[in-house]
Amino acid sequence: MTRRVPRWRELRPLLQPRGLELDPVKRAHTLSDLRAAAGKRVPKAVFDYVEGGADDEISLRRNRSAFDRVEFSPQVLVGGDIDTGTTILGEPAELPLVLAPTGYTRMMHHAGEPAVAQAAAEAGIPYALSTMGTTAPEDLHGDNLWFQLYVWRDRGFTKDMVGRARDAGFRALVLTVDTPVPGNRVRDIRNGLTLPPRLSLSTLLDGATKPRWWWNLLTTEPLRFASFDGDGSLAPSDIGAKMFDRDVTWTDLAWLREVWDGPLVIKGIQSVRDAKKAAEVAADAVVLSNHGGRQLDRGPAPLELVQPVADEVGDRLEVFVDGGIRTGGDIAAAVGLGAKACLIGRPYLYGLMTGGERGVTKVISILREELERTMRLVGANAITDLDRSRVRLRA
Ligand SMILES: Cc1cc2nc3c(=O)[nH]c(=O)nc-3n(C[C@H](O)[C@H](O)[C@H](O)COP(=O)(O)O)c2cc1C
Repeated sequence: MTRRVPRWRELRPLLQPRGLELDPVKRAHTLSDLRAAAGKRVPKAVFDYVEGGADDEISLRRNRSAFDRVEFSPQVLVGGDIDTGTTILGEPAELPLVLAPTGYTRMMHHAGEPAVAQAAAEAGIPYALSTMGTTAPEDLHGDNLWFQLYVWRDRGFTKDMVGRARDAGFRALVLTVDTPVPGNRVRDIRNGLTLPPRLSLSTLLDGATKPRWWWNLLTTEPLRFASFDGDGSLAPSDIGAKMFDRDVTWTDLAWLREVWDGPLVIKGIQSVRDAKKAAEVAADAVVLSNHGGRQLDRGPAPLELVQPVADEVGDRLEVFVDGGIRTGGDIAAAVGLGAKACLIGRPYLYGLMTGGERGVTKVISILREELERTMRLVGANAITDLDRSRVRLRA
């Protein structure tokens, strides 16, 4: 083999330096990139509050590992344009995706719920404000907002809350039913987390490495539950235990139907049996969910319930699913198995913690691109083409 000295003209194109991107939102290619960036921007106790699950976090891990069972059966040489548009509760949505309710959102980033609502509105998807939110329903604006309700011991107060959501223009009511008592979130207990966060020696030490987060916390509106008067600074588990009604039953649903005449979604269904009961009380949709593994540990992975529940009640109500959705491929899989839409909780909080509204927008755009790519690769041009001929769960 004869060798020669390379010429400059040949070397130069190989030496073009790649621009160094310092902005973590722009640099992110996947949701795990945003998760890693988020962990560097907020105190450990805040990140753990988002990230953690109940007890041994078995459900939390299973929610995710269930997606390893997904197998696509692609159809090739299909051609044509991709359309991710669908309808959710009768309203058009640009993606089969909803931003799930998460409590205490302004603790993750001072821009809080208004930033999430804005990103959702721009992306043409619904967002559900939590009862435990840090923005009041009256102060939130968006095109397709849902209100998530916990039933309180004080029914008059619960009714007022529903009325406030209706008057503020919220389209759907999401009743969360997997929280008769708060889950045992061991990370929060170990971190001594309270809402609002208290300044202790350890939070101050941790805060020293996250000065921007503390600066934003201390120089914007004080953190508080915006829909009700909190009771000082409490551990997250104490708040639920003090205020939520653990004796709510299916008979209360008739009452709720009287005070709310819009679309009703029941969130936290974990069996075919209860999905059938939801259909009997004329719910418009169920969310198959174990609260992101934050309540009962060792419940079923919601993804594995999609097919049996859709088969049983899919003709009577819409079936949504959440827990562990981290890629657009996951959305394609859940929809293919029978879900009308997926909800995400932690993923948009990763974006929010990293870059406020821009971060949430980035999360949605990553998921959108991944979903479009998956649809192209499995040969599905429309959301309705995603069905069981293209997706199954391996045994
Ligand atoms: C920090 C955090 C707070 C949450 N707060 C609520 C809440 O107030 N009400 C509710 O119904 N679900 C709440 N959830 C559960 C989410 O709505 C959703 O079911 C769950 O996050 C989905 O799992 P994923 O995080 O793996 O996407 C919360 C989840 C997280 C991570």
